[in-house]
Amino acid sequence: EKGGFKHFMAKEIAEQPVVLAEAIQRGVANGTLNLPEDMDFSKVERLTMVACGTAYYACVVAKYWFEKVAGLPVEVDVASEFRYREPPITPNTWAVFVSQSGETADTLAALRFCQGKAAKIVGVVNVPTSSIARESDIALPIRAGVEVGVASTKAFTCQLTALALMALKAAQDRGRLTAAELAQYIADLSALPGLVNQALLIAPEVSRVAKELAEAQDILFLGRGPLFPLAMEGALKLKEISYIHAEGYASGELKHGPIALIDAHVPVVVLAPRDALFEKTVSNMQEVMARHGKVLLISDAAGLEEAGMGCWRTITMPSVPDFLAPILYAVPAQLLAYHTAIAKGTDVDQPRNLAKSVTVE
Ligand code: M6R
Repeated sequence: EKGGFKHFMAKEIAEQPVVLAEAIQRGVANGTLNLPEDMDFSKVERLTMVACGTAYYACVVAKYWFEKVAGLPVEVDVASEFRYREPPITPNTWAVFVSQSGETADTLAALRFCQGKAAKIVGVVNVPTSSIARESDIALPIRAGVEVGVASTKAFTCQLTALALMALKAAQDRGRLTAAELAQYIADLSALPGLVNQALLIAPEVSRVAKELAEAQDILFLGRGPLFPLAMEGALKLKEISYIHAEGYASGELKHGPIALIDAHVPVVVLAPRDALFEKTVSNMQEVMARHGKVLLISDAAGLEEAGMGCWRTITMPSVPDFLAPILYAVPAQLLAYHTAIAKGTDVDQPRNLAKSVTVE
């Protein structure tokens, strides 16, 4: 049932090009977006997005997308805080709940709090028969297929893809996209599964670096803009399965505290495609190197050419349109965690103390 792979997690990482291609084929038909008919954003004034763990990081990425392409304000919260904070829900707010299992207790409770208060409740779920799918006004399936590994991988990239399609729909409904721009986004999305396939080829390199990372006590992950949530996701994944302490920070926050941790024993993983904010990230990276920090820079050829010198290790990613970078950079985050856990000999698919579906708070 592991299809020749050693672990479900490895199988699920490898399945991503196929499941993403399917999700994109379903979400785009005849060159236009194909989302549920009642998903019309023209009167929506705000989104409230709520989730836990990895699904929460998918929401944080989506906030960057919705705000940038659709000009729609987005508030994001973890479900365990949201449900007891009971925040006021303004008119014309849509409440969006993202959950692989569709059964996470805190996310479901947050959804129930919003029933009758939000203009619409949208569930972005993998399990179509789940409570969250059933109790949503609109259930948007992510179609990742069954995910067995406790560490979420393909569900995360499929959540991101569904949310990217939603953000484009919002931009279209709100008159923020020309036909040519939409066509370009759709063409970029169609090329994504091929890029993910290419990104998977970094596995042998990652496996070599992972043997060294496995010696570390603490690891920092840095990212900027929509790569900031990927830094948090990379750190979460690593903690979950390798039990190494890791933290994800927005690159610009480094000098507000975490830089005090830097010495020759703390590897710093920098997720930084050569995008508009690259220079800023490079200057944060240099601050780490000036303190003898070990930087692992994950970037594309252009980024590494510009800033790879002096890094402890580098990994070359395919170049990718900015909009889709957070989906592609999930791959190195997953592979780093996986291979570090393998190097440490931990139980990758069933890490200690964790359950696949957290149905109690
Ligand atoms: O089923 P859900 O998406 O609601 O689960 C949310 C989190 O429990 C889940 O993403 C968790 O953080 C994973 N173990 C991450 O790998």
